[in-house]
Amino acid sequence: MIIREKPKLRVGLVGSGFMGKCHANAFRSVSGLFDLPLEPITDMLADISDEVARKNAVALGFRRSTSDWKALCTDPDIDVVAVTTPNALHEPIVMAALAEGKPVYCEKPLSNTLESALRMTEAAEMSGIVTMVGFNFLRNPMIRLARKIIESGEIGEVVSFRGRHAESYMSDPNVAHSFRTDPDGGGALADIGSHIISMGRYLLGPITHVLGQSQTIHKTRPIKLGKTERSPVLVDDATHALVTFENGVLGTIEANWAAVGRTMDLSWEITGTCGAIAFSQERMNELLFCKGTTGRATSGFTRIESGPTHPPYGSFCPAPGHHLGFNDLKVIEVAELVHAISGSANTGPDFREAYEVQKVVTRIAESCKEQIKKKV
Ligand SMILES: NC(=O)c1ccc[n+]([C@@H]2O[C@H](COP(=O)([O-])OP(=O)(O)OC[C@H]3O[C@@H](n4cnc5c(N)ncnc54)[C@H](O)[C@@H]3O)[C@@H](O)[C@H]2O)c1
Repeated sequence: MIIREKPKLRVGLVGSGFMGKCHANAFRSVSGLFDLPLEPITDMLADISDEVARKNAVALGFRRSTSDWKALCTDPDIDVVAVTTPNALHEPIVMAALAEGKPVYCEKPLSNTLESALRMTEAAEMSGIVTMVGFNFLRNPMIRLARKIIESGEIGEVVSFRGRHAESYMSDPNVAHSFRTDPDGGGALADIGSHIISMGRYLLGPITHVLGQSQTIHKTRPIKLGKTERSPVLVDDATHALVTFENGVLGTIEANWAAVGRTMDLSWEITGTCGAIAFSQERMNELLFCKGTTGRATSGFTRIESGPTHPPYGSFCPAPGHHLGFNDLKVIEVAELVHAISGSANTGPDFREAYEVQKVVTRIAESCKEQIKKKV
């Protein structure tokens, strides 16, 4: 039997660390899980040196490698550029890809500064190029279900949002400086706060007002991995903010990368006038759902477990309760990216949405600096 091949989407990936590996895995596996109009081919990988690029290209299944991301962006055989480098490098790579008219799939946060994020957004919009940003946690079937529950009115009028992104990867004061502690756009709020802000916006809409306070828990860190010399930390380890959504919902947001005991507590609780829902990425296959107010013997949260009735879970597994994982969210994101590039559907989040998220991050950071507090 002759099987007709699908048109190819040749992928150029810049960066092959934590997220680069995750992108590569998603591009390689997506065609086996989703019926897509284009078939991604992991074509060229760029990284910091020829040696690193070649080694990781082999490991991650790319045909070609380079130490020059500009060459990748201008290569006529590359159809889409994926960017998984440190934040401050996003803009030059993205701009080079956009200048070639290529769709861009960029990791969050979109850039290190709000001004830079705006330049990237306007450049993409001016040329009408498809963009997507890696807010992969939004792809969870349980998060889609949560939005449906809210929109259906099942929990009544939403009155409160309590959101948090807490991890412990910076809780050890001997974790060295990296791009994540770069004073120009680093810190817990920018790094992981952006995820819970994007989640809040996805579920409840725009955030219009913020009031923040932040702290640097570990005042110095080794200047780099393997060094004993230390230098000051100029970014936040934890930030807490009061937020107001455009629809009047009040809430709190916490970003904390020194939260001892927490591994991936990207979590939230949304309370409505006659119900509530709650979620934590640490138990990403579950949604807690409470219907009705208190007073009945059976009132309280019940646990919904993910399964094929929660799309696109069924693309991975026909049986409920077998669980999706972090990398699967990236596969779903890449499936959405392929649809956006082919023109069949575009669910975002695009650069404009990522810019809006970054605006909230920036306004909270500004509010933290202003330190308007009432003495008790
Ligand atoms: N969406 C998510 O869940 C998630 C999770 C972690 C990180 N991120 C984001 O992904 C991005 C990368 O983070 P990471 O944890 O993968 O970092 P990482 O340090 O593990 O990887 C960065 C990669 O970029 C490469 N690189 C650095 N300079 C380069 C250059 N000049 N040319 C080519 N390659 C270069 C590095 O060698 C490395 O391979 C950041 O923007 C981060 O915020 C997103």
